[in-house]
Amino acid sequence: MDAIEAIRKRRSIRRFTDDVVPKADLETIVDAGRLAATGSNRQPWDFVVVTDRTMIAQLTVSGAWMAKASAVIAVIMDPRSRWWIEDGAAAIENMLLASTSLGYGACWVEGDALPHEEELKTLLGIPTKKRVLALIPVGVPAETPAPEKKPLEQVLHWERY
Ligand SMILES: Cc1cc2nc3c(=O)[nH]c(=O)nc-3n(C[C@H](O)[C@H](O)[C@H](O)COP(=O)(O)O)c2cc1C
Repeated sequence: MDAIEAIRKRRSIRRFTDDVVPKADLETIVDAGRLAATGSNRQPWDFVVVTDRTMIAQLTVSGAWMAKASAVIAVIMDPRSRWWIEDGAAAIENMLLASTSLGYGACWVEGDALPHEEELKTLLGIPTKKRVLALIPVGVPAETPAPEKKPLEQVLHWERY
């Protein structure tokens, strides 16, 4: 699947089958995050991949559906870098697209993760000075949600707003 196809196909997936995502594919997904654009090439990230069922069950900050994920990737950022949020977002999107490209489903869980940040840090042994920007549950999709996107002509402006 090429990049444009993956971009068009990616949706937030919140229903998964019981199938397992192989470790090699999880590594490919995290590698896509590692290769993202990053301000001044600071690369202020670490990625914790959780596959333990008991631990995944404790990471269900956005609802019970997360427990069915084959793995959850925690995106850990160093806030001393000026662009840590932008860098983290770039890495997250790369990982969502890589997941789609490999035939998996994933979801960017940040809105529901941030209020649980201290709890997540304790669970995952994250150093105090680091931030947990997002969790990404990954699995084999059991749904194909339709895109609900604004039409291109509504958001594309040529030359001037
Ligand atoms: C910054 C950010 C935070 C998000 N937080 C959550 C979340 O906490 N829980 C969740 O289920 N989805 C979350 N999402 C996924 C969005 O709900 C989803 O991207 C949006 O509805 C558009 O759907 P799509 O991803 O299928 O295009 C988040 C997405 C972004 C970019």
